[in-house]
Amino acid sequence: MGINNVKGTHDVIGSEANLYSAIESLLKQIAELHAYNEVRPPVLEYSELFVRGVGESSDVVRKEMYTFLDKGQRSLTLRPEFTAGIMRLIVQNKLLATNDWPLKLYYCGPVFRYERPQLGRYRQFNQFGVEAVGHNSPINDVEVITMAYIMLTSLGLENVTIKINTLGDEESRNAYRDALKAFFKDKVANMCEDCRSRYELNPLRILDCKVPEDQEIVKDAPHMSQYLSDSSKARFETVCNALKELNIPFEVDDSLVRGLDYYSETVFEFHYVSQKGNDYGAIGAGGHYSHLVKEVGGPDVPGIGFSFGIERLASVISDDGLIPTDIENKCDIYVMSLGEQNQIYALAYANDARLAGYNVEMCFDNTKLGNMFKRAEKKSAKVALIIGDNEIEKGIVILKNMATKEQKEVLASEFIDEIDKLLANCDDNCCCGNNCKCEN
Ligand code: HAM
Repeated sequence: MGINNVKGTHDVIGSEANLYSAIESLLKQIAELHAYNEVRPPVLEYSELFVRGVGESSDVVRKEMYTFLDKGQRSLTLRPEFTAGIMRLIVQNKLLATNDWPLKLYYCGPVFRYERPQLGRYRQFNQFGVEAVGHNSPINDVEVITMAYIMLTSLGLENVTIKINTLGDEESRNAYRDALKAFFKDKVANMCEDCRSRYELNPLRILDCKVPEDQEIVKDAPHMSQYLSDSSKARFETVCNALKELNIPFEVDDSLVRGLDYYSETVFEFHYVSQKGNDYGAIGAGGHYSHLVKEVGGPDVPGIGFSFGIERLASVISDDGLIPTDIENKCDIYVMSLGEQNQIYALAYANDARLAGYNVEMCFDNTKLGNMFKRAEKKSAKVALIIGDNEIEKGIVILKNMATKEQKEVLASEFIDEIDKLLANCDDNCCCGNNCKCEN
């Protein structure tokens, strides 16, 4: 019996892989326009980092981590998210000592969570995200949210719903926690097991419970907005007013609490329901954190960031027919050699053409010319390059325009120039029908 992929993982193949690359390169480009620099932290971290960073009361740490002992009996975890690892990277590499604040970093790669697989939910998935660390300005929050919005609209996702809320500062959250404890005190015994432990560890987490009976109870719970300190209220007002000023559409959702423990003040999520009605949940999310850098051994400075789920972005883009048309690998030149002994020469031409910027495929089978042309057509090659004993002897190659079927002999030393002429200014919509004489 064959071996299949692990449950909750998926192979990314062909045009889907091209779409992932196109998404990631657009996101990187926009992050760089905002002066973010790339970092690549390891996938493996000490488990303690996530227990302390992401928080013991989060579902991610309690139930979803891929944790194991290595051969040296160290507890290691496949990262379930990037943010805690990025803070570790910043502190360990002393990045805050040498950079202007905020320190602005972006990252992209796989993360692992042992969740129940379903539409848009995997056990290994990819995130692209950013972190801006070291500055407390609410306008920094706004820049981060705005950048995320620019990224989504640049991907063609116009109908994004941005949900935003504030979790307040420590004073606000302590007051709210007390209020929630008082509210759930005589109710929690009848709630799910998770809620009973959330009540002890972090009652805010109860608000995220998905059990329908518990949700009935939760809907009457007090709201965070009633317990905000003056400074948190003012900060949130500044953020909302600036977003309005910049015409970034958003809605305040005061039930938004986020699933990771490190958040404080501004939190947000990006939701998108495809035109087909498929709801993939949040396609991205993030927020402000006050003490995460300190939690992993650094100075007590705040930060803010977000992550997109690449799989979810790719799904909504595909669902809504927004796939860019130029992401397929298009074959410019198909190289054919007559006689196996000439393949090495054919490869040399292929390499020269690649260095000149052309997408080149080569036939490695010693087969009839007719078969090779069929393959070139299947690859939608624009030009076929043919060499055999005769051509090598005469120092020429044959170029065949696959659209017009015209073919000509050209000097080997000039074959790139000739291909340039054939393909210059010529795309599928070219007025010349791919026999590009437009320049001549
Ligand atoms: P998160 O909300 O846990 O936040 O994940 C961010 C995004 O990852 C989600 O909005 C979703 O698109 C995607 N995602 C999450 N779980 C899955 C899954 N099982 N399968 C597929 N996609 C998934 C964080 O990870 C925070 N570190 C974000 C952040 C950055 N906050 C501050 N800085």
